[in-house]
Amino acid sequence: MANSAIVLAAGAGTRMKSRLPKVLHKICGKSMIERVLEEVKASNVEDITAVIGEGSQEVESSLKDFNLQFVFQEKRMGTGHAVLMAEKNIPEEGHVIVLCGDMPLIQRETIISLMAFHEDNHLDMTVLTAMVENPFGYGRIVKESDGKLIKIVEEKDAEDQERLIKEINSGVYCFRGDLLKKHLSEICPNNVQGEYYLTDLIEIGVQNGYALGTYSLLNTEEILGVNSRRQLAEAEGIMRKRIVEKHMDQGVTFINPEHAYVDSGVSIGMDTIIYPGVIIKGNTVIGENCMVGSNSRIENSTIEDHVQIQNSVLIDSSVKQGTTIGPFAYLRPGSCIGKNVKIGDFVEIKNSIIGDGTKASHLAYVGDAEVGKNVNIGCGVVFVNYNGKEKQKIIVEDNAFIGSNVNLVAPLKVHKRGYVAAGTTVTVEVPEGTLCIGREKQKHIKGWVDRKKLSRE
Ligand code: UD1
Ligand code: CA
Repeated sequence: MANSAIVLAAGAGTRMKSRLPKVLHKICGKSMIERVLEEVKASNVEDITAVIGEGSQEVESSLKDFNLQFVFQEKRMGTGHAVLMAEKNIPEEGHVIVLCGDMPLIQRETIISLMAFHEDNHLDMTVLTAMVENPFGYGRIVKESDGKLIKIVEEKDAEDQERLIKEINSGVYCFRGDLLKKHLSEICPNNVQGEYYLTDLIEIGVQNGYALGTYSLLNTEEILGVNSRRQLAEAEGIMRKRIVEKHMDQGVTFINPEHAYVDSGVSIGMDTIIYPGVIIKGNTVIGENCMVGSNSRIENSTIEDHVQIQNSVLIDSSVKQGTTIGPFAYLRPGSCIGKNVKIGDFVEIKNSIIGDGTKASHLAYVGDAEVGKNVNIGCGVVFVNYNGKEKQKIIVEDNAFIGSNVNLVAPLKVHKRGYVAAGTTVTVEVPEGTLCIGREKQKHIKGWVDRKKLSRE
């Protein structure tokens, strides 16, 4: 039977104290609503409608890849009102799953099992619930002594006795489409908050003699609803653990799994070792048998096998096999580093290609350059790519030698085996196999130190 889903995401998220719509806050690199939608998509659901309100344009444009239908809830009048906005998208046949956009830890297996439970037991309305130690803030599941569901009562409307109930409403439900459509408009805002509560449908269901049920989750983490920054951090911690454990299961070593920050989209090869304090973001791919040392940050980069990275920052870059990076190197966007290269301490590379076997062992800046194979870039070399107005290109061909403290002024080409002596400022093309030396001849002035009384003896 065709199932569809409605994701509620119109809330302002007042408790987040943020200019960003709540559901766009990220957890391990992905917005909360994206996470919910990915799980819904993977659960055999055909049509998904998102109810958006606060910051709707921002929310809508961030979700354009999901092929959703959007409905707009102008005034936030409660979860029941939010679903009412999507009424025209509720099918008469089949079932509708309703979820909140602020529960980023929900997993596809749970959604699938909830739907199966609902269908197998021929239920009209099923609520996903959980038993929690601290039910504060959640709607409580009120049942008769024989376990029959009576209603859901919100924290603010609950009586003292009801507040003691530890079974809570996760905010995920499965409804028979026709019944949801029929009874949505019967919800009244007669409660402490003056809101239209979707949860009132349970009482309406009881009055109509429908088949109601609860499906209780053992893993209560999944239903964490994020309403505040504290809960955001809590959800991030749980997600971080899930991600790191997945990598460990696939053969990656984490020296201290609690101190590794890996986004969901990252892939890491077998036998790679990740030291504490490492941040790996975006769609980074790291190969096998690599070492990523403490406090490195790698974003949207591709690292091949057998690469060693220490205390370095790599952004939108690529590194081929057997190369070592750092400590304290900075690869800015567009750095393509070849095989068996050495990029040592305090070397900054930007928008440049570095050929196989080349070495820049310490203290250098390489920007907007094409550097060939087996080139030596000495200590203190600066690729002078900017004249105050525009960036220009520098080409250094294979097997060239760039001595220490050299300035290569763009636009410039150093041909194959060109040899630039230390301390030279190069402004003119260096031909193949040629020594380029541009420094004043050294003078010696005898007895000068004594005459000036500068002797340090
Ligand atoms: C809701 C449930 C509560 C449950 C909890 C689980 C109701 C009345 N209460 O409470 O029983 O335990 O979720 O986390 O449903 N939203 C809209 N439009 C609105 C109001 C809310 O789109 O007018 C969206 C929000 O963006 C959010 C979701 O609905 O994604 C839930 O709203 P929220 O205000 O967070 O509900 P809770 O108070 O957490
Ligand atoms: Ca909530």
